[in-house]
This record gives sequence, structure tokens and C-alpha cells, in this order.
Amino acid sequence: EKRGYPHFMLKEIFEQPRAISDCLRGRLNLEDDTIHLGGIADQIDKLVDADRLIIAACGTSWHAGLVAEYLFEHLAKLPVEVEYASEFRYREALIDEDDVMLVISQSGETADTLAALRTAQERGALSLGVCNVVGSTIARDTDAGVYTHAGPEIGVASTKAFTTQVSVLVMMAILLGQKRGTIDQEYAKKLIHELNEIPGKVEEILEHSDSIKDMAKLFSYAPNFLYLGRTYNFPAALEGALKLKEISYIHAEGYPAAEMKHGPIALIDEMMPVVVVAATDHTNDKMISNIEEVKAREGRIISITGEENEEVINLSEFSCPIPETEDCLSPLLTAIPLQLLSYYIAVNRGCNVDQPRNLAKSVTVE
Ligand code: M6R
Repeated sequence: EKRGYPHFMLKEIFEQPRAISDCLRGRLNLEDDTIHLGGIADQIDKLVDADRLIIAACGTSWHAGLVAEYLFEHLAKLPVEVEYASEFRYREALIDEDDVMLVISQSGETADTLAALRTAQERGALSLGVCNVVGSTIARDTDAGVYTHAGPEIGVASTKAFTTQVSVLVMMAILLGQKRGTIDQEYAKKLIHELNEIPGKVEEILEHSDSIKDMAKLFSYAPNFLYLGRTYNFPAALEGALKLKEISYIHAEGYPAAEMKHGPIALIDEMMPVVVVAATDHTNDKMISNIEEVKAREGRIISITGEENEEVINLSEFSCPIPETEDCLSPLLTAIPLQLLSYYIAVNRGCNVDQPRNLAKSVTVE
């Protein structure tokens, strides 16, 4: 069932235009610029009135949760906290019936995420889920939820699960913004129409996968990688680093770009590739300074940035240009080159891409 692809991971990376389209289908209304999420329709008023949204998840799903923090704060002006499910459950977390708990899980079976859900339910919070596996425990046990409809994900490394989770979270944030009156309707319209363009833009990125494959050959030697991003692409940087370490066994760390100066900069030398995830937003000048700081220490810059961002492209040793989009949608695009880069590096290093050592697809132990 790999349909001619050498690995499930590559198949699933290439399935993303379809997976995202399936996720958006029937939910975006381009005629009246509204969003319909049937799974949470009955509970949406409680979310509108909530004091706070608490998001709990693990791994890649936690990264999607971090993107959601920026989305919900920006579009719906709702205070958000994102928690590692495993920490939330063992803390004396302050959560009550005025809060909403959102758990995100591809499998819907992750033990720590399930335990965080139970804690929130015991304290009386409304619980919502974003899951991929239909009928999974988390999908069944939450009060309401939205499926990602990504289709089965077999590779241990999450790829299409992440981009469809972010797609759902974007829709939730726009919908909530409209209901709370915190988003300008013209801007909502723009986002809805732009979201509808995302599958085509992902397709465009995939058409250039060979250039990432060639580039990967030049970086497969590296024992360490640093990933930097700001705002919406800080979680994308974390996700890129996780992808690389889990399938290629290269040590990689993701940081908010400005944090580099507070420690990691000491690691940079001519051996160190630094992947800069720089969608063209209001932090672009700051990113350019970060790139210059890396280059001054002979670090090797790989950038993933908007195709019109010539300044960043010209400063990079290698660049993966992506189609321009709205800032808050950019992780849906920057994720793709990050996935491809880690995939090709892992293949070059002879790693078992679909079944990395020590890992299971679904972590049902605590
Ligand atoms: O099924 P879940 O989304 O709850 O899984 C959470 C993590 O175990 C998962 O995202 C893990 O980090 C992936 N292997 C990352 O690629």
C-alpha cells in the first residue's frame, strides 16, 4: 500500500494536498465566508464564553497546539495555555468549569493526553478534541470535537497529521473570532479564501522536492542542527527539529530565533547547519539579524522562506522558497520542506524511516 513510494513517510508527505483538502471539505463556505464545524456546533457557545482555553498534547500534536496559541490569541482574543499533557496531569493545574480543555491527538490513544483530558473533566471543564483516528478513545471521551480526516498515518513520524491539525485549528480560531466579534470580516474572508488555496500551494512545494533531496546530500554529515523561527514559525522550527531527530538520529534543537543569543549561539561553527524558518512577516528584519549573527560565526544557513523574501534568500547558502501566504497560515507551508529535509537526510544515513528505533506510533504507556 505504499503506492510506489519507498516509504510510508514519503507517501504521507505527498498526500498532504489531498489530506488538507479532505480536512477543509464541507467546512469552508466560500460563498458567505463562514466556517462550519459540525462536531463542535452544539458546544461553540461555551467556547465563545470561555475564560481561557487550555490545550494539552504531546510531541508533534503539542507543536500544533503551540501554533493554535498564536492563532486563538490573534484571531479570537482568547487567552490560551499550551501544556505538555504529561506535565499538566501531574501538576496542581488550575482549571475549572469556566475553562475549556482542548486535547490534540492523531491516534486519540496517547496515555498522557488521555489522562490530561480526564483531569480537566473531573474539574468540570468542557472538553474538546482534535483527533485523526475515528472512534479512538479521546475522540469518544471528549464532549465534542473535530476530526482531521487525514486518513491513516502509518509512518511513525507525523506529517499529514500535523498539517491537518493546524488546518482544523485555523478554522476553529476563525470561527471563534467571528462569533466573538474579534476578527474583522474582511480579514476573515481573506483567510478563508487563502486557506482554500493551501492544498495547491503545498502541491507547488512538493514539485520542488528534488532540490531538497539534492541539498540533503550536503548536510547528512552533520551531528547537530539548529532550527530557528519566530511567531507562527517558532513551533514550525520545533517540529522540524523533532522530525530530524526522530528519524535520522541527528541531534537537533528548535528555538525561538531570539533565544539563540541566550546560549545556543555558543554551539555555532562551520560544521553547524542552521535552518531558519522565516515566513515574511513583521519579524523579518529581526530574522535577518539572526542570520547575520550565524554567518559571522561561519554557521551554514538553510532558509525556508517566502519566495519574495529576496533578502533572506540571498543571505542563505541554501533556500527552499515557498509560495507567499498569510502569516498565520505559513506553518502549513513551511512544514513541508522541513519534513522533506529530514526524510532525505534519514534515507541518506540509512535509517529506518518508517519505524525509527525506540519509537512507537502510538504511545499508550505513561
Ligand atoms: O497520536 P498523538 O498525536 O497523540 O501522538 C503524540 C506524539 O506521540 C507524536 O506526535 C510523536 O511526537 C510523533 N512521532 C512525532 O512525529
